[in-house]
Amino acid sequence: MKKTLVGLALLASMPMFAQQKASITVRPDEGKEIISKHIYGQFAEHLGTCIYGGLWVGKNSTIANTDGYRNDVLQALKELKVPVLRWPGGCFADEYHWMDGIGPQENRPRMVNNNWGGTVEDNSFGTHEFLNLCEMLGCEPYISGNVGSGSVEEMAKWVEYMTAEQGSPMAKLRKENGREKPWKVKFFGVGNESWGCGGSMRPEYYADLYRRYQTYCRNYDGNRLYKIASGASDYDYEWTEVLMKNAGGHMNGLSLHYYTVMGWTGSKGSATKFTDEDHYWTMGKCLEIEPVIQKHIAIMDKYDPQKRVGLMVDEWGTWWDEEPGTISGHLYQQNTMRDAFVASLSLDVFHKYVDRIKMTNIAQIANVLQSMILTKEDKMVLTPTYHVFRMYNVHQDATFLPMDLKCNREIVRDDRIVPMVSATASRNADGVIHISLSNVHLTEAQEIDINLDNFKVKSVTGEILTAKNIADYNSFENPNVVAPKAFNGAKVNKGALKVTLPAKSIVVLEVK
Ligand code: AHR
Repeated sequence: MKKTLVGLALLASMPMFAQQKASITVRPDEGKEIISKHIYGQFAEHLGTCIYGGLWVGKNSTIANTDGYRNDVLQALKELKVPVLRWPGGCFADEYHWMDGIGPQENRPRMVNNNWGGTVEDNSFGTHEFLNLCEMLGCEPYISGNVGSGSVEEMAKWVEYMTAEQGSPMAKLRKENGREKPWKVKFFGVGNESWGCGGSMRPEYYADLYRRYQTYCRNYDGNRLYKIASGASDYDYEWTEVLMKNAGGHMNGLSLHYYTVMGWTGSKGSATKFTDEDHYWTMGKCLEIEPVIQKHIAIMDKYDPQKRVGLMVDEWGTWWDEEPGTISGHLYQQNTMRDAFVASLSLDVFHKYVDRIKMTNIAQIANVLQSMILTKEDKMVLTPTYHVFRMYNVHQDATFLPMDLKCNREIVRDDRIVPMVSATASRNADGVIHISLSNVHLTEAQEIDINLDNFKVKSVTGEILTAKNIADYNSFENPNVVAPKAFNGAKVNKGALKVTLPAKSIVVLEVK
């Protein structure tokens, strides 16, 4: 307790515009693992206005659209290079019956979205609408199947409907609904949060159900499923243990959910009104994902030393109180520079474990939790988190480069130790190195010496995301308060780099 106070007192008493020193050694010669582009995955759930209003407005909308999809959002997502999109949930997935979402839209039955505010779901966005969207975005679909309230037969038929070429009843039905050729669907989740909203199961019971359901998810006509079992929440290592032990041989991936949240009961705190202390606490809670990942990986390594089964962090991000005045249960929250840091720090961590982590999906793509995009009628804003994902997309499918990082560390609330600098580096297929740097300190810049071993730097350019205040955000009235700009604080110094990283900033450097 005493230590915590000391750390916080130090942070509070630091003079404005002072500087700290840090150093980084990147080791380009030791890079061997590829950062799967799927680490940059997204998640779209039938929840609030994520789908309806966020991605989809329907063909007859006055909002500019292409076949019902918002043009502004489509354009923004194309620039983001979304590699994979998870759908239809989340908790919604275990109450979703896919056959309600096919055929003429006007004939589709309605349902109540029991998980998310009791909103009436008209099923106008279904399998065709989702898979066609993925094709338009050039991303892989990741379907979450219903184990909690659905049958084995229902799940088996869904896979057949989406992926069987011809000659089967479901392929015939798909053709009658206007889609001749099957879609390619690789990622298939067998249930979601089966310990909670997905059926309140014990791990032993779910492991058996998983084995049974996945048996009937067939590979049709050259389509190869990558089957993902519903995994643990945060610190539930027993779930991972039992799943790996009892069903590890039947899965390609096992999921993990970790939210940066101030606790599951009571207030989670405002997304936009918070103290400096809250900011540092958030960084600590966000970074705690690293030891959590390490522990889940250690269990997976025990049962799967070859690292055949991928760890899929298929829900992560910040979870704050809903914005005042919005519909309860719709999880609509604003997104500040603090959220941008949660994105950059989390991605830096994921990169370190790409030999095991094969996908992550931030929650969620639009209008829900830590979203990329917020919409209100015909208006759209890109959040600070969007900008981080756009700046960081240079790391997709690049080679991860190990590094040593030395910087100041501070003790924050809950006795977490938070490094003031976070960083990651990769080399792309053209030999260009990208280094991403975050300075979470609110008042002090970082003077960083970056050495790249045998790689002698000739030129450097960069982009910076920062804000006047950590709680700044983009609103419909002021959409560009937090936006990337060119960065000129990096200098080549005898083949190495010297970088002045302003307080509360995120920078991505391109090094040649
Ligand atoms: O992302 C919101 C919800 O969080 C998801 O539906 C569920 O899987 C998790 O509890």
